[in-house]
Amino acid sequence: MKIDQSFDLFKTLISSETIDDPYPVYKMLREESPVYYMESPTGFLSESLWVLTRYDDISKVLISKKFGRGNRFGKVKVNSKFYDKMNSLTKMRQHWVNFLDPPDHTRIRGFINKCMTPGMVLNMRVRMESIADHLIAKFSNGRAEIISEFSYPFATLTIAEFLGTPESDRDILDKWASQLVKTLDVVTNQFTQEDLAVIYKAADEMKSYIGEIVDSKMSEPGDDFISRMLSISEGDDKPDREEIIATLVLLIMDAHEAPKNLISNGLFALLKNPEQHEMLLKDMTKMDNAVEEMMRYDSPAQFTGRRTHEDEIIRGFEIKKGVQIICMLGAGNRDPERYENPDMFDIERKNIMPLSFGGGIHFCAGAGMAKVEGQAALNRLLSAFPNISLLDKEYHYHNYLHSRGLDSLEVKL
Ligand code: HEM
Repeated sequence: MKIDQSFDLFKTLISSETIDDPYPVYKMLREESPVYYMESPTGFLSESLWVLTRYDDISKVLISKKFGRGNRFGKVKVNSKFYDKMNSLTKMRQHWVNFLDPPDHTRIRGFINKCMTPGMVLNMRVRMESIADHLIAKFSNGRAEIISEFSYPFATLTIAEFLGTPESDRDILDKWASQLVKTLDVVTNQFTQEDLAVIYKAADEMKSYIGEIVDSKMSEPGDDFISRMLSISEGDDKPDREEIIATLVLLIMDAHEAPKNLISNGLFALLKNPEQHEMLLKDMTKMDNAVEEMMRYDSPAQFTGRRTHEDEIIRGFEIKKGVQIICMLGAGNRDPERYENPDMFDIERKNIMPLSFGGGIHFCAGAGMAKVEGQAALNRLLSAFPNISLLDKEYHYHNYLHSRGLDSLEVKL
């Protein structure tokens, strides 16, 4: 097995040649170094990494208790001197469930799950369909730019309604969320001092805004997620105000970016494969499976991370305790050991189970909601415009690695 230490994987993946199509690089890695070691990659990360690209290795790591987030700095006590000196973003990151290990993870994640049951998400479906219809009604001139006119506003309006944030404030919430979401992409983002000033300001403002909403829902609850969160946060385990605010900020960020990319990457895949488009139009009950295939074929989230809790062996390689592992979800989703013809987009594929939502205790908290969003949005769009097609032009993906999405998606209706 070859491990090529001179190959700077992440730099290659975000270079202009590969950003539009990283799958050949994944293929090369899977074949040559499915467990790939990167020694202190220059530029953005300060530690050595192991990178996994096989479906099987990734799913084992994601569900195993031997791997976790391994926050090496530990949790700082709220209201301690050290905590008070942190900026708002660092404070909130202390409570973000995606960075926690048990028992903190179990407590906060259990609380999110209680407030976001599958039934509550399904109840949103009708509302999602009318949001889609409302956006479609604004299309004009027989053309649309799907991301700005449809998938992004669809995702932001959906989460705003689900959480119960006031309609008048949705633009400012979008602005903060899009500034903060960049901080989740630890690999591709190198921030200048000016970027950081904007991000910290957005974090301060968003934190205090959400704090005000929490206080107002406390005195006047509604029929929404935030009110449910406040009403069930009883007992010894109840999250405190800081934790509730941080969780809401995380949910808002997660729900803005990835569902937008699911809808637009999925539509792009469908329109590039007209026979699949036609098959779906003939039988829209195939939509649920089509969305699973869209998630697999071009995942909106390309990787997730874990740290070893103890020394481990993966595919014959010894990985020391405390080492960071990057699970390349998009690569595993195209693994020929797991999928026949993995580079083919096939809405009738059986037993898909993509890695795109991660796995184990950190499995995406919004997976159920994101799938219903994809199904509802695409259902309404394809029903309204069965002849929707791509233009005769090049389409490009944005320059992030963790989040995979198109820069723009112009279509003929
Ligand atoms: C297509 C859309 C989405 C994709 C592809 C996606 C993907 C992911 C991935 C890969 C993870 C990390 C899982 C792991 O490390 O094992 C994650 C975690 C998470 N996602 Fe999503 N996500 C999506 C939508 C959403 C939505 C709509 C929400 C909220 C409403 C959300 C909330 C979360 C939260 C809270 C976590 C952290 C879970 C934990 O650590 O326990 N996601 N998501």
